[in-house]
Amino acid sequence: MDAIIKLKNLNVWYGENHVLKNINLEFYEKKITAIVGPSGCGKSTLLKTMNRLIELTENAKVSGEVLYRDINIYDPDVNVIEVRRRIGIVFQKTTPLPMSIYDNVAYGPRLHGISDKRTLDEIVKNSLIKVGLWDEVRHRLKDSAFNLSLGQQQRLAIARTISINPEVILMDEPTSALDPVSSMKIENLMKEFKNDYTIILVTHNLNQAKRVSDFTAFIYYGEIIEYNITDKIFREPEKKLTMQYMRGIVF
Ligand SMILES: Nc1ncnc2c1ncn2[C@@H]1O[C@H](COP(=O)(O)OP(=O)(O)OP(=O)(O)O)[C@@H](O)[C@H]1O
Ligand SMILES: [Mg+2]
Repeated sequence: MDAIIKLKNLNVWYGENHVLKNINLEFYEKKITAIVGPSGCGKSTLLKTMNRLIELTENAKVSGEVLYRDINIYDPDVNVIEVRRRIGIVFQKTTPLPMSIYDNVAYGPRLHGISDKRTLDEIVKNSLIKVGLWDEVRHRLKDSAFNLSLGQQQRLAIARTISINPEVILMDEPTSALDPVSSMKIENLMKEFKNDYTIILVTHNLNQAKRVSDFTAFIYYGEIIEYNITDKIFREPEKKLTMQYMRGIVF
């Protein structure tokens, strides 16, 4: 199995606060890897480190390497825009841009220089089809994206992410603000996406991790405690701490 992203001795500090401690982890291509762990243990930080979004936080410091197809994305000659195109991110709460549904999806491709209307139409349509939103919005593409329901807005956010053709999609609790039906739609999307993308999913919902992921990493106050095939992590973890967390015994 090929690893598309490898973290090597990765450390992150916010000021003096050492929040990720010597992380070594590999993410496999076209698989779903779940990252679980208690609140404040560094999951969002880990995701943001993987596409250099962390650099937007003023007091954050990163050491170590994030290898994407064996290139360290923190190397000085690496183009950060390109990194973020290839490694997209979807957050828990996504506010659409204050524009139409169409323009929300076309925004990224336009930024990357695509202006031909036919090409944009095609990208918008395909992205919306992929997230199962096309039939719901095809007749109202010019409507404001704010008129969509929360669940639809989340699928729109995913459409925006895939509109620029990423290889990896980082998802930070993508369903935690959604009702069960909308959550299930997103979970089903993730499973379909496995053919085309590598997904790294932070979730507080252990059942979700169990249902959708191939691998699970358990992180506890900045350290990876255990990483394995999901089934193994849930059924027979090697560490007592993992077992306790999975069974909801502590925390
Ligand atoms: N910009 C920041 N400046 C200073 N400290 C921060 C900043 N962002 C996060 N932290 C701290 O870093 C630690 C890790 O935060 P992070 O958001 O990565 O945790 P998390 O695992 O995603 O938590 P949750 O499950 O609640 O989303 C926490 O102690 C948090 O308070
Ligand atoms: Mg978080």
